[in-house]
Amino acid sequence: MHDRLKGKVAVITGASTGIGLATAKVFAAEGAKVYITGRRQGVLDRAAEEIGHGATGLQTDSASLEDLDRLYAHVKSDAGRIDILFANAGGGSLLPLGQITEEQVDDTFDRNVKGVIFTVQKALPLMGKGGSIILTGSTAGSSGTAAFSVYSASKAAVRNLARSWAMDLKGTGIRVNVVSPGPVRTPGLVGLAGDDAAQQELLLDHFATLIPLGRVGEADEIARAALFLASDDASFVNGAELFADGGTAQV
Ligand SMILES: NC(=O)c1ccc[n+]([C@@H]2O[C@H](COP(=O)([O-])OP(=O)(O)OC[C@H]3O[C@@H](n4cnc5c(N)ncnc54)[C@H](OP(=O)(O)O)[C@@H]3O)[C@@H](O)[C@H]2O)c1
Repeated sequence: MHDRLKGKVAVITGASTGIGLATAKVFAAEGAKVYITGRRQGVLDRAAEEIGHGATGLQTDSASLEDLDRLYAHVKSDAGRIDILFANAGGGSLLPLGQITEEQVDDTFDRNVKGVIFTVQKALPLMGKGGSIILTGSTAGSSGTAAFSVYSASKAAVRNLARSWAMDLKGTGIRVNVVSPGPVRTPGLVGLAGDDAAQQELLLDHFATLIPLGRVGEADEIARAALFLASDDASFVNGAELFADGGTAQV
């Protein structure tokens, strides 16, 4: 690692497992002071310990405005500012048209859209010139997937938030970009197949057949794409969608 984020303050939502956790490890190893969130305190505490480098876990439901206020009050009193905000918390579930429920729509859009909007809006007073906001999109946001329309629509919304916010943030020196993973081996992805390990492997094998590189991604591979967007290497990259998908949505 090369101190690419030395002295930076980073908030990463949804970082107790999966892509967020891998990114928190990379950011911390690159010199950032890292604050991570998730809803389960025990999992969050273990993640903070695993990340090391003084990482702080703050239990936060991104869909709760009160929780977000508490999160940013803590970061403000502790660090005084945010240089990097990775609004990554999210997830989804499989239901085909005809079986979609109100509960699924509310849960998915609360996490992936409402949660992202207020995670970013409430962080703005702590951010300034040179700041980097990264949103987690998905290849699903730009293609059709059977039984995944609600999730996919929520990620399409995320893509447009970055385009429009790049305009709203004009003149602030804050960049906003989307990192869009293809299928990545995380608890969130394998959980779509239920708890059975054999079913989970079958799901991963199925995804691998759809990916030009012939394999699913690892969380660390998304973390390194997020590192690029977070760092000054991406100083003129704004409003963009960076796919880290093995080619899934590019062919
Ligand atoms: N894995 C993939 O193939 C893939 C592909 C494209 C996009 N993505 C996106 O990547 C992001 C991370 O997913 P992942 O695959 O790493 O899944 P994951 O392992 O399930 O991680 C999701 C993280 O978000 C947290 N979280 C979920 N809802 C939250 C909420 N309302 N408030 C705060 N934290 C919340 C989870 O902790 P708690 O449950 O304890 O809150 C966990 O830390 C998501 O936005 C997902 O849609 C994943």
